[in-house]
Amino acid sequence: MKKIWLMLGVLGVVGMMGAPIAAQAGAESRCKSCHSFSDKNGMGPGLKGVYGSKAGTHPGYKYKFTKYIKGEPWVWDDEHLRAWLDDSKKAVKAFTGNPKAKTKMAAQHVKGKKADQIIAFLKTLK
Ligand code: HEC
Repeated sequence: MKKIWLMLGVLGVVGMMGAPIAAQAGAESRCKSCHSFSDKNGMGPGLKGVYGSKAGTHPGYKYKFTKYIKGEPWVWDDEHLRAWLDDSKKAVKAFTGNPKAKTKMAAQHVKGKKADQIIAFLKTLK
């Protein structure tokens, strides 16, 4: 009898953790080949604290797109991330207002619910 209660308890905890795990699994599969979710830079900048930060300001990372920014960089909010996750190559031109602007990040074509999930996950990386 005790064992059954223990099992139900475990199932309950797993159930509660299911949502964030699903978001992380999505983000991991799409982003982790180039980004850490910590401060550490890899092929791309570490994504810890990226939500709400100014573009191109992660310490120690050598960006490509920053040289096209005139004045203040944009802030990574829902709107900018949505455009970026869909097509970073196109987005960087729109954000800088420079049709020649380039970024090292390949277009990921992540949109809709998947993009929402990843943005929600990025918000948790504090
Ligand atoms: C193929 C490698 C690659 C993948 C996959 C990738 N990125 Fe990137 N990402 C980069 C690189 C490289 C940069 C830096 C771009 C530059 O300097 O022009 C970057 C930059 C960024 C930035 C700007 C960060 C800042 O500090 O301004 C964000 C946000 C971002 N990526 C989010 C994501 C997310 C979320 C995913 C997953 C959906 C993802 N990236 C997938 C390589 C990648």
